[in-house]
Amino acid sequence: MRIDRHMKKALAFIAVLVALPAVGLAAGGEAHVAKANNDIHNQASLQRGAKNFVNYCLACHSARYVRYNRMAADIGLTEQQMTENLLFSGESPHSTMTNGLHADDGKQWFGVAPPDLSLIARSKGTDYVYTFLKSFYADPAKGTGVNNLSLPGTAMPHVLWELQGTQEAVWEGHTDAQGNVQKHFKEFKLASPGKLTPEEYDAFVRDTVNFLEYIGEPVQARRQALGYWVIAFLVFFTLLAYALKKEYWKDVK
Ligand code: HEC
Repeated sequence: MRIDRHMKKALAFIAVLVALPAVGLAAGGEAHVAKANNDIHNQASLQRGAKNFVNYCLACHSARYVRYNRMAADIGLTEQQMTENLLFSGESPHSTMTNGLHADDGKQWFGVAPPDLSLIARSKGTDYVYTFLKSFYADPAKGTGVNNLSLPGTAMPHVLWELQGTQEAVWEGHTDAQGNVQKHFKEFKLASPGKLTPEEYDAFVRDTVNFLEYIGEPVQARRQALGYWVIAFLVFFTLLAYALKKEYWKDVK
Protein backbone atom coordinates (compact mmCIF):
# COMPACT_ATOMS: atom_id res chain seq x y z
CA MET A 1 0.00 0.00 0.00
CA ARG A 2 2.72 2.42 1.10
CA ILE A 3 4.76 1.81 -2.01
CA ASP A 4 1.68 2.45 -4.04
CA ARG A 5 1.19 5.85 -2.50
CA HIS A 6 4.84 6.78 -2.96
CA MET A 7 4.70 5.70 -6.54
CA LYS A 8 1.65 7.82 -7.16
CA LYS A 9 3.44 10.82 -5.70
CA ALA A 10 6.52 10.16 -7.82
CA LEU A 11 4.42 9.80 -10.94
CA ALA A 12 2.60 13.05 -10.20
CA PHE A 13 5.95 14.77 -9.71
CA ILE A 14 7.25 13.48 -13.03
CA ALA A 15 4.04 14.56 -14.76
CA VAL A 16 4.48 18.10 -13.40
CA LEU A 17 8.11 18.16 -14.59
CA VAL A 18 7.06 17.06 -18.06
CA ALA A 19 4.20 19.57 -18.23
CA LEU A 20 6.21 22.59 -17.02
CA PRO A 21 8.00 23.40 -20.30
CA ALA A 22 4.65 23.19 -22.11
CA VAL A 23 3.21 25.82 -19.76
CA GLY A 24 6.26 28.01 -20.42
CA LEU A 25 5.79 27.62 -24.15
CA ALA A 26 2.14 28.55 -23.96
CA ALA A 27 2.98 31.68 -21.98
CA GLY A 28 5.82 32.61 -24.36
CA GLY A 29 3.66 32.09 -27.44
CA GLU A 30 1.73 35.24 -26.60
CA ALA A 31 4.88 37.36 -27.05
CA HIS A 32 5.46 36.24 -30.68
CA VAL A 33 9.07 35.20 -30.37
CA ALA A 34 10.54 34.29 -33.75
CA LYS A 35 13.43 31.85 -34.08
CA ALA A 36 16.79 33.48 -34.82
CA ASN A 37 18.23 30.31 -36.45
CA ASN A 38 21.71 31.79 -36.25
CA ASP A 39 24.86 29.69 -36.36
CA ILE A 40 27.90 30.77 -34.34
CA HIS A 41 30.12 28.46 -36.43
CA ASN A 42 29.39 30.55 -39.52
CA GLN A 43 32.35 32.94 -39.58
CA ALA A 44 31.15 34.95 -42.59
CA SER A 45 27.94 35.67 -40.68
CA LEU A 46 29.89 36.64 -37.55
CA GLN A 47 32.06 39.01 -39.61
CA ARG A 48 28.99 40.68 -41.10
CA GLY A 49 27.44 40.83 -37.64
CA ALA A 50 30.54 42.54 -36.21
CA LYS A 51 30.36 45.14 -38.95
CA ASN A 52 26.64 45.70 -38.35
CA PHE A 53 27.25 46.09 -34.63
CA VAL A 54 30.04 48.63 -35.10
CA ASN A 55 28.05 50.61 -37.68
CA TYR A 56 24.59 50.55 -36.13
CA CYS A 57 24.80 49.78 -32.41
CA LEU A 58 28.14 50.83 -30.94
CA ALA A 59 27.28 54.54 -30.95
CA CYS A 60 24.86 53.86 -28.10
CA HIS A 61 25.72 50.36 -26.83
CA SER A 62 29.12 49.21 -25.61
CA ALA A 63 30.35 45.63 -25.46
CA ARG A 64 32.87 46.29 -22.75
CA TYR A 65 33.98 42.70 -22.18
CA VAL A 66 35.06 42.34 -25.80
CA ARG A 67 38.57 43.20 -26.94
CA TYR A 68 38.83 44.05 -30.66
CA ASN A 69 41.89 41.96 -31.51
CA ARG A 70 40.74 38.86 -29.64
CA MET A 71 37.31 39.09 -31.28
CA ALA A 72 38.81 39.62 -34.76
CA ALA A 73 41.06 36.56 -34.38
CA ASP A 74 38.10 34.45 -33.19
CA ILE A 75 35.88 35.36 -36.13
CA GLY A 76 38.65 34.95 -38.72
CA LEU A 77 39.63 38.56 -39.52
CA THR A 78 43.22 39.59 -40.11
CA GLU A 79 44.63 42.59 -38.25
CA GLN A 80 44.36 44.64 -41.45
CA GLN A 81 40.75 43.63 -42.16
CA MET A 82 39.87 44.53 -38.58
CA THR A 83 41.51 47.95 -38.84
CA GLU A 84 39.77 48.70 -42.13
CA ASN A 85 36.32 47.43 -41.22
CA LEU A 86 35.87 47.81 -37.50
CA LEU A 87 38.12 50.56 -36.14
CA PHE A 88 36.79 53.87 -37.37
CA SER A 89 37.76 56.38 -34.76
CA GLY A 90 41.35 55.41 -34.16
CA GLU A 91 40.77 52.89 -31.36
CA SER A 92 43.69 50.66 -30.48
CA PRO A 93 43.29 47.01 -31.56
CA HIS A 94 43.84 46.14 -27.89
CA SER A 95 40.99 48.26 -26.58
CA THR A 96 37.56 47.00 -25.62
CA MET A 97 34.41 47.82 -27.56
CA THR A 98 33.30 50.89 -25.67
CA ASN A 99 31.96 54.24 -26.84
CA GLY A 100 32.14 57.78 -25.56
CA LEU A 101 28.59 57.72 -24.25
CA HIS A 102 28.30 58.26 -20.51
CA ALA A 103 25.49 56.40 -18.78
CA ASP A 104 24.20 59.69 -17.34
CA ASP A 105 23.99 61.31 -20.78
CA GLY A 106 22.38 58.20 -22.23
CA LYS A 107 19.77 58.32 -19.50
CA GLN A 108 19.14 61.99 -20.11
CA TRP A 109 18.85 61.63 -23.87
CA PHE A 110 16.80 58.46 -24.08
CA GLY A 111 15.16 58.22 -20.67
CA VAL A 112 16.88 54.83 -20.19
CA ALA A 113 20.63 54.36 -20.59
CA PRO A 114 21.35 51.94 -23.46
CA PRO A 115 22.57 48.74 -21.76
CA ASP A 116 25.96 47.16 -22.44
CA LEU A 117 25.28 44.34 -24.92
CA SER A 118 28.13 41.95 -24.01
CA LEU A 119 25.78 39.53 -22.30
CA ILE A 120 22.39 40.46 -23.74
CA ALA A 121 22.07 37.33 -25.91
CA ARG A 122 22.70 35.19 -22.83
CA SER A 123 20.42 37.09 -20.49
CA LYS A 124 17.50 37.54 -22.87
CA GLY A 125 18.14 34.87 -25.50
CA THR A 126 19.04 35.15 -29.19
CA ASP A 127 15.45 34.57 -30.28
CA TYR A 128 14.29 37.45 -28.12
CA VAL A 129 16.89 39.90 -29.46
CA TYR A 130 16.14 38.78 -33.04
CA THR A 131 12.42 39.33 -32.50
CA PHE A 132 13.01 42.65 -30.70
CA LEU A 133 14.92 44.06 -33.70
CA LYS A 134 12.08 43.00 -36.02
CA SER A 135 9.27 44.33 -33.84
CA PHE A 136 9.50 48.11 -34.12
CA TYR A 137 6.35 49.67 -35.53
CA ALA A 138 5.21 53.23 -36.23
CA ASP A 139 3.54 54.89 -33.26
CA PRO A 140 3.06 58.65 -33.64
CA ALA A 141 2.19 58.93 -29.94
CA LYS A 142 5.80 58.12 -29.01
CA GLY A 143 8.67 60.61 -28.94
CA THR A 144 10.81 58.31 -31.11
CA GLY A 145 7.91 57.78 -33.52
CA VAL A 146 8.05 54.03 -32.88
CA ASN A 147 6.99 51.45 -30.37
CA ASN A 148 8.11 47.86 -30.01
CA LEU A 149 5.97 44.78 -29.59
CA SER A 150 8.64 42.88 -27.62
CA LEU A 151 9.40 45.79 -25.29
CA PRO A 152 6.33 48.04 -25.25
CA GLY A 153 7.16 51.69 -24.66
CA THR A 154 10.87 51.12 -25.31
CA ALA A 155 13.20 54.11 -25.25
CA MET A 156 15.27 52.72 -28.14
CA PRO A 157 14.64 54.43 -31.48
CA HIS A 158 14.30 52.19 -34.54
CA VAL A 159 17.89 52.71 -35.65
CA LEU A 160 17.50 50.23 -38.53
CA TRP A 161 14.43 51.86 -40.07
CA GLU A 162 16.32 52.92 -43.19
CA LEU A 163 17.14 49.27 -43.84
CA GLN A 164 13.83 47.73 -42.83
CA GLY A 165 11.46 50.52 -43.83
CA THR A 166 8.49 51.46 -41.69
CA GLN A 167 6.10 48.80 -40.54
CA GLU A 168 2.73 49.26 -38.95
CA ALA A 169 1.09 46.97 -36.44
CA VAL A 170 -2.29 45.52 -37.35
CA TRP A 171 -4.51 44.83 -34.35
CA GLU A 172 -7.71 42.88 -34.06
CA GLY A 173 -10.21 43.44 -31.33
CA HIS A 174 -12.84 41.42 -29.62
CA THR A 175 -15.35 42.53 -27.03
CA ASP A 176 -15.18 40.60 -23.77
CA ALA A 177 -18.05 39.75 -21.43
CA GLN A 178 -17.79 43.12 -19.68
CA GLY A 179 -18.18 44.93 -22.99
CA ASN A 180 -14.54 46.11 -23.12
CA VAL A 181 -12.69 45.88 -26.42
CA GLN A 182 -9.52 43.75 -26.10
CA LYS A 183 -6.78 44.49 -28.61
CA HIS A 184 -4.64 41.65 -29.92
CA PHE A 185 -1.67 41.97 -32.18
CA LYS A 186 -2.37 40.36 -35.55
CA GLU A 187 0.56 41.09 -37.83
CA PHE A 188 2.99 43.68 -39.11
CA LYS A 189 2.39 45.43 -42.41
CA LEU A 190 5.29 47.05 -44.27
CA ALA A 191 3.96 50.58 -44.84
CA SER A 192 7.01 51.84 -46.74
CA PRO A 193 9.86 49.57 -47.81
CA GLY A 194 13.45 50.19 -46.75
CA LYS A 195 16.74 49.63 -48.55
CA LEU A 196 16.60 45.91 -47.84
CA THR A 197 13.95 43.37 -48.78
CA PRO A 198 12.26 41.67 -45.79
CA GLU A 199 14.45 38.58 -46.37
CA GLU A 200 17.62 40.67 -46.50
CA TYR A 201 16.58 42.49 -43.36
CA ASP A 202 16.02 39.17 -41.54
CA ALA A 203 19.49 38.06 -42.63
CA PHE A 204 20.97 41.36 -41.43
CA VAL A 205 19.36 40.94 -38.01
CA ARG A 206 20.34 37.24 -37.86
CA ASP A 207 24.01 38.12 -38.47
CA THR A 208 23.87 40.85 -35.82
CA VAL A 209 22.30 38.50 -33.28
CA ASN A 210 24.85 35.85 -34.20
CA PHE A 211 27.61 38.28 -33.30
CA LEU A 212 25.85 39.12 -30.02
CA GLU A 213 25.65 35.42 -29.18
CA TYR A 214 29.35 35.00 -29.94
CA ILE A 215 30.41 37.91 -27.68
CA GLY A 216 28.21 36.52 -24.91
CA GLU A 217 30.41 33.42 -24.81
CA PRO A 218 33.51 33.82 -26.99
CA VAL A 219 34.85 30.34 -26.21
CA GLN A 220 31.64 28.61 -27.22
CA ALA A 221 32.83 27.41 -30.63
CA ARG A 222 36.15 26.23 -29.23
CA ARG A 223 34.46 24.59 -26.23
CA GLN A 224 32.19 22.58 -28.53
CA ALA A 225 35.09 21.53 -30.77
CA LEU A 226 37.02 20.46 -27.67
CA GLY A 227 34.02 18.39 -26.59
CA TYR A 228 34.39 16.10 -29.61
CA TRP A 229 38.02 15.43 -28.73
CA VAL A 230 37.11 14.68 -25.13
CA ILE A 231 34.46 12.18 -26.22
CA ALA A 232 36.83 10.63 -28.78
CA PHE A 233 39.42 10.24 -26.02
CA LEU A 234 36.90 8.64 -23.66
CA VAL A 235 35.84 6.13 -26.31
CA PHE A 236 39.48 5.32 -27.12
CA PHE A 237 40.33 4.97 -23.43
CA THR A 238 37.37 2.65 -22.80
CA LEU A 239 38.49 0.35 -25.62
CA LEU A 240 42.05 0.41 -24.30
CA ALA A 241 40.94 -0.39 -20.75
CA TYR A 242 38.78 -3.22 -22.03
CA ALA A 243 41.64 -4.67 -24.09
CA LEU A 244 43.91 -4.47 -21.05
CA LYS A 245 41.34 -6.16 -18.85
CA LYS A 246 41.06 -9.03 -21.33
CA GLU A 247 44.81 -9.33 -21.49
CA TYR A 248 45.23 -9.44 -17.68
CA TRP A 249 42.44 -11.93 -17.08
CA LYS A 250 43.04 -14.33 -19.97
CA ASP A 251 45.21 -16.73 -17.88
CA VAL A 252 43.13 -16.46 -14.72
CA LYS A 253 40.46 -19.06 -15.00
C1 HEC B 1 20.40 55.79 -30.64
C2 HEC B 1 20.86 54.91 -29.61
C3 HEC B 1 20.73 53.42 -29.84
C4 HEC B 1 21.25 52.68 -30.88
C5 HEC B 1 22.08 53.18 -32.05
C6 HEC B 1 20.90 51.31 -30.60
N1 HEC B 1 20.19 51.21 -29.45
FE1 HEC B 1 19.57 49.50 -28.54
N2 HEC B 1 18.83 50.56 -26.99
C7 HEC B 1 18.87 51.93 -26.87
C8 HEC B 1 18.20 52.31 -25.65
C9 HEC B 1 18.01 53.74 -25.14
C10 HEC B 1 17.79 51.12 -25.02
C11 HEC B 1 17.03 50.97 -23.72
C12 HEC B 1 15.59 50.70 -24.12
C13 HEC B 1 14.64 50.50 -22.97
O1 HEC B 1 15.00 49.86 -21.97
O2 HEC B 1 13.50 50.95 -23.12
C14 HEC B 1 18.21 50.05 -25.89
C15 HEC B 1 17.97 48.69 -25.62
C16 HEC B 1 18.41 47.64 -26.40
C17 HEC B 1 18.22 46.26 -26.09
C18 HEC B 1 17.58 45.69 -24.83
C19 HEC B 1 16.15 45.39 -25.04
C20 HEC B 1 15.52 44.84 -23.79
O3 HEC B 1 14.61 44.02 -23.91
O4 HEC B 1 15.92 45.21 -22.68
C21 HEC B 1 18.77 45.53 -27.11
C22 HEC B 1 18.82 44.02 -27.26
C23 HEC B 1 19.29 46.48 -28.06
N3 HEC B 1 19.05 47.77 -27.61
C24 HEC B 1 19.92 46.13 -29.22
C25 HEC B 1 20.45 47.03 -30.12
C26 HEC B 1 21.16 46.65 -31.32
C27 HEC B 1 21.44 45.21 -31.75
C28 HEC B 1 21.51 47.79 -31.96
C29 HEC B 1 22.22 47.91 -33.29
C30 HEC B 1 21.53 47.30 -34.41
C31 HEC B 1 21.04 48.91 -31.13
N4 HEC B 1 20.40 48.41 -30.04
C32 HEC B 1 21.24 50.25 -31.44
C33 HEC B 1 19.43 52.82 -27.76
C34 HEC B 1 20.07 52.48 -28.94
